[in-house]
Amino acid sequence: MSFDGKTRARTPHRIGLDIGTHSVKGVEVVERGSELIIRAAQVVPILSTSNPNEPPTPDAIVHAVRTMLTTGGFQSNKVILALPPEAVYMKWLHLEASSPTELDETARVAAVRGAPFDPDDVVVDYRVLLPRARRGRNVHFVMLVAASASTIDTMLDLADRAGLEPVAVDVGPVAAARSIEDTTRRGSPLWSGQPRAHCIVGARSTTISVIRGDELEFARTVPVGGNDFTARIAERLSIDWEEAEKIKLSRGTRLLENATLVIATAEGEVSVPCDNVVGRLAREIQRSLRFFSSQYAEGSYLGIIGSTVLAGGGALLRGLDRALMYQGVEINSIADPFAGFSVDARPGLQSIGDFAAQFITAVGLAIGSYCDDSSLVEDRAAAA
Ligand SMILES: Nc1ncnc2c1ncn2[C@@H]1O[C@H](COP(=O)(O)OP(=O)(O)OP(=O)(O)O)[C@@H](O)[C@H]1O
Ligand SMILES: [Mg+2]
Repeated sequence: MSFDGKTRARTPHRIGLDIGTHSVKGVEVVERGSELIIRAAQVVPILSTSNPNEPPTPDAIVHAVRTMLTTGGFQSNKVILALPPEAVYMKWLHLEASSPTELDETARVAAVRGAPFDPDDVVVDYRVLLPRARRGRNVHFVMLVAASASTIDTMLDLADRAGLEPVAVDVGPVAAARSIEDTTRRGSPLWSGQPRAHCIVGARSTTISVIRGDELEFARTVPVGGNDFTARIAERLSIDWEEAEKIKLSRGTRLLENATLVIATAEGEVSVPCDNVVGRLAREIQRSLRFFSSQYAEGSYLGIIGSTVLAGGGALLRGLDRALMYQGVEINSIADPFAGFSVDARPGLQSIGDFAAQFITAVGLAIGSYCDDSSLVEDRAAAA
């Protein structure tokens, strides 16, 4: 599986494609010498006639991807995809093994056993993270990953139907971590051993992760996201989903520190209490980060997390950062995964920066360089 993204790039033009439940996000990069240039970036909502709580249909996804490709002026057909959170199992474990072969075997067995997928439907991989010394024993700190093979096939099929050629399939939070690390390194090239948290607020779910250097050390997905705000508006005004979503996205909408969403309607401003949603999100972030820190000895700098970077489409809700801070979550910033990149001068592309946070996973997918000899997932992609 493609976690490291550090090996050589095979495709100088490529698209990172993040298919969500609400929208598809694509970023095309081009290599010019050692530089990567953002050639195109586009987000298109997936039109769903059914209940917003149901997964979008393959037809609706393919339609959104095709629209994204044409309206965004994408040129490449090589694509790197991210697996949806429910198709991936991730676990961080200390495994004891006296040789690389034994470690390989132990890790694979542990991944198959832990994953909530049928053993016949699972692709597994692992990555050894920085060693944590345990005196006299060969203990390795390992990230296990297992993915549903049938979901990978479904993703490959979707890409194929949209006229794209998959190069690799990656894990969303791993791609997002790569993007955050890249931005951090551009900002301050000194390596820091301090773990950093990021929180990707999607439509239905939010993924809270901790990275150290460029390694993902923790990730948990919780069922709260931008859709919960839409649901609150629809409930408060007794209107349908589409209309509520439109209101949420309109300029005047903002979340106050006390978690009241202020929206502009024809009758004037209306307050929609959202403390339940913000409270749940804040609690989940705090609980996840506490869990991460609890794995280290009290006071150890290894477990002390800096403030959290917010990302994902849900993070574009004006005021969400401050409302979370009011609940005691230390927010560092809202991610800008395009920062430091040269952006093609085509019309329309410059303004994409306003929605940058939504592209974090797509950028991470596009900037990884995937080597095609190491993984089952890539073999499947190559065979598609
Ligand atoms: N400008 C904006 N202001 C407020 N909310 C926004 C804005 N743009 C997008 N959103 C919200 O962000 C969410 C979509 O974010 P994103 O594209 O990251 O989700 P997704 O990847 O499709 O969903 P998921 O990851 O949960 O499957 C939706 O709830 C959408 O309403
Ligand atoms: Mg998403």
